Amino acid sequence: MQSSLLCFFFITFISFVSCSIALFELSVKVTNVISENFANANESPNVTDPDSSNQKLLLLLELDSITVEVDEIIGQIQRSDKDKNSNIISRMSQNLPLMINDHKSTLKDIHMSQIYLNDYYKAMKKYIRDADEYNSTVLLDFADKVSSASNNSVSSMVKLLFEKVVDKSFIENVLKHLDPINNYYCHEKQSGAEILHTFMNEIQTINIKSYVSIYTAYMIKEIYSETKGSFKKAVVNASENFQMRTNNLTSTLKTYLTTASLELRRCDLQPYEYGETYLEIRNFLHGIIINKVNLDPNGSCNKECNAYSYIKHYNCGSNEWCWKEAMCSKVIGCQYVDSSMEVCPSKGYKTNRRYEYVKLGNGRVLGKEKPCDTDITSLETYRSWVFWKCSYCFCLCDEGRKFYTQNHINMRPVESNIHRNMVVTGLQFIEHNHVIHLQIQEGKLLPNGQIDLKSVQWLAPEDYQITQRNYVDGKDYHTLSWEKRSLQLVDIMAKEGNVVTGVGFVLDKFRNHLRLQVSTRPFNFTTGELTKTSKAVVEDSYEVGPQLKLDAVDIPTSSKLPPNQFTTNKFVKFTNSDFQKDAGQTTVPFLDAQPVESANPVPLSGVGIFHKGRPEFGGFIAPRIFTYNFTNHLEPIFSQLKTND
Ligand SMILES: *[C@@H]1O[C@H](CO)[C@@H](O)[C@H](O)[C@H]1NC(C)=O
Ligand SMILES: *[C@@H]1O[C@H](CO)[C@@H](O)[C@H](O)[C@H]1NC(C)=O
Ligand SMILES: *[C@@H]1O[C@H](CO)[C@@H](O)[C@H](O)[C@H]1NC(C)=O
Ligand SMILES: *[C@@H]1O[C@H](CO)[C@@H](O)[C@H](O)[C@H]1NC(C)=O
Ligand SMILES: *[C@@H]1O[C@H](CO)[C@@H](O)[C@H](O)[C@H]1NC(C)=O
Ligand SMILES: *[C@@H]1O[C@H](CO)[C@@H](O)[C@H](O)[C@H]1NC(C)=O
Ligand SMILES: *[C@@H]1O[C@H](CO)[C@@H](O)[C@H](O)[C@H]1NC(C)=O
Ligand SMILES: *[C@@H]1O[C@H](CO)[C@@H](O)[C@H](O)[C@H]1NC(C)=O
Repeated sequence: MQSSLLCFFFITFISFVSCSIALFELSVKVTNVISENFANANESPNVTDPDSSNQKLLLLLELDSITVEVDEIIGQIQRSDKDKNSNIISRMSQNLPLMINDHKSTLKDIHMSQIYLNDYYKAMKKYIRDADEYNSTVLLDFADKVSSASNNSVSSMVKLLFEKVVDKSFIENVLKHLDPINNYYCHEKQSGAEILHTFMNEIQTINIKSYVSIYTAYMIKEIYSETKGSFKKAVVNASENFQMRTNNLTSTLKTYLTTASLELRRCDLQPYEYGETYLEIRNFLHGIIINKVNLDPNGSCNKECNAYSYIKHYNCGSNEWCWKEAMCSKVIGCQYVDSSMEVCPSKGYKTNRRYEYVKLGNGRVLGKEKPCDTDITSLETYRSWVFWKCSYCFCLCDEGRKFYTQNHINMRPVESNIHRNMVVTGLQFIEHNHVIHLQIQEGKLLPNGQIDLKSVQWLAPEDYQITQRNYVDGKDYHTLSWEKRSLQLVDIMAKEGNVVTGVGFVLDKFRNHLRLQVSTRPFNFTTGELTKTSKAVVEDSYEVGPQLKLDAVDIPTSSKLPPNQFTTNKFVKFTNSDFQKDAGQTTVPFLDAQPVESANPVPLSGVGIFHKGRPEFGGFIAPRIFTYNFTNHLEPIFSQLKTND
């Protein structure tokens, strides 16, 4: 019995893996204590003496002390479940049935059995605690109910429950629904591997409580019934059944843990709220209307709009409309739309648009027509030198660097406080001083891959302004421009035995791609110490897939339906929304700003950036995390349990 290990769990916070360790240790302990106890009960002549009722009560009190210990450990474990009012089995039985039709009843049955078995356990505690208030008939009645072969006994229910849980098709079906594609982890905020673990822990909790109930029932019989000494076989059988279930559960967990997903990301949260659930690159690319005469270096109208595909300098001359518009640093991809148009200008840069909508003479509307809060401006083609038509072109404007643009991405690496043994446990996109930062959550790493919950915090982003002279564009932050607006969608994994301690963006100078970089460090699983002497191991992704094309897309938040397409291993260019749908006023994709963290913080084996969206909408760029892969560290526990048989 590794009681030292057990003590360890009382003084620290418990992660889902430590729960397993603690539970399996507890199982071994309960088995040992119980078998000793039963031996004593048989050997002690005083106990079997019908007159020594005090002795009987003493024996029952000893049982009570087992339940106190069981409850204490289970209480510790369940404290790590953030949802205090339910447990994972009840939540799964409520939320998974919608998706698992063929196993709907099974999860519900498991949950029902759990409720019954918990009630039995509670009743059992009451009987042994207040045993002096009950006569032997009542106690023996209860003991029969618990241990009989009837369908409602604890013995039968726990047997049936385990047959369901370790059933191959059941567990495979559950796992299928823990796959990221099915979004079940949205309810749990845990990766598939974590959910599987938590679920199995809860089952083992039932197993332990049931065993204690059954054992107590036999003790009551041994003490109070006429046929003393005849229950030893039954107790040995119960103990063997308990150990077999523990082993079956352990081997099931071991088998399926390797296939369970480590991924954790946030699901779509509607209604969308700027700054809360999403962010956007603002005032970067806008559709703009400019007359040909202003685009032409010679001030001539003799070319078509599409001759102007990339203009750095234009001249407003005497064109009133042109002077009214804020200057662009680059005018791109002009096209002819119509000879006349009515423009509803926006109320200023805070709207993140130049125009609300543009209504063409032919009736077509660019953007969505609505009551115009500003003065509608009519623009018409005019003639110059009789035959040249000076028409207004619809182009794209790269706004360049203005005080109101929000097109900067932080490139200064962020690292958890490794001197305090902190590691990264979560990620979130935030905006600070017009710069988009990938913020990290950090937590103190403890032995056995645990995180000290009290230490978990989001690290404030570095507080700088891009106007500060010692912060350099291209080094400390990246400013998106028409030429440099690509972002790689990659996952980056730490090497085995390493955990993530930092993230940052770097600019790939050859491709002009922004790329995620991750710093990782080795650590000692037993002590939880990061290996301080070593420098961070920087993981990077040099592979680059094809471009994720976002052509003619609408504003992502206009979609009534949640994203259904998830993209990784490609790169995406920030681009303008469709001219037709949105007058090209919005920069897409948006960024998902929800924090990505586990309900029970764990160290990470990797992080990633991906795109989620629907066809015809710009979608969102979102971070995701990969929880630490505990599989290898559980191996010694599994083998230890096997040798303990
Ligand atoms: C058992 O009972 C006898 C007589 O009632 C007493 O002398 C003895 O001390 C008891 N033994 C224990 C272990 O309590
Ligand atoms: C035991 O207690 C129950 C309920 O308190 C009572 O109905 C029953 O008659 C009692 N039996 C004996 C043998 O005292
Ligand atoms: C007990 O359960 C078994 C299997 O579920 C069933 O066949 C049997 O009819 C049940 N017995 C009673 C008395 O409900
Ligand atoms: C031992 O337990 C198993 C499983 O519950 C049961 O089928 C069997 O009848 C039990 N044997 C004895 C001798 O109680
Ligand atoms: C449970 O383990 C026992 C041996 O301990 C084995 O005979 C049995 O097949 C296992 N059952 C399942 C469902 O894995
Ligand atoms: C976790 O580690 C185990 C053992 O190295 C491996 O078999 C498994 O594929 C890993 N899981 C994932 C999701 O990478
Ligand atoms: C501008 O005019 C000059 C001389 O007339 C001509 O050589 C040049 O090609 C013109 N440039 C453009 C862009 O039309
Ligand atoms: C981890 O630390 C323990 C205690 O200091 C030490 O015994 C063990 O060798 C270390 N493990 C590794 C892999 O360094």
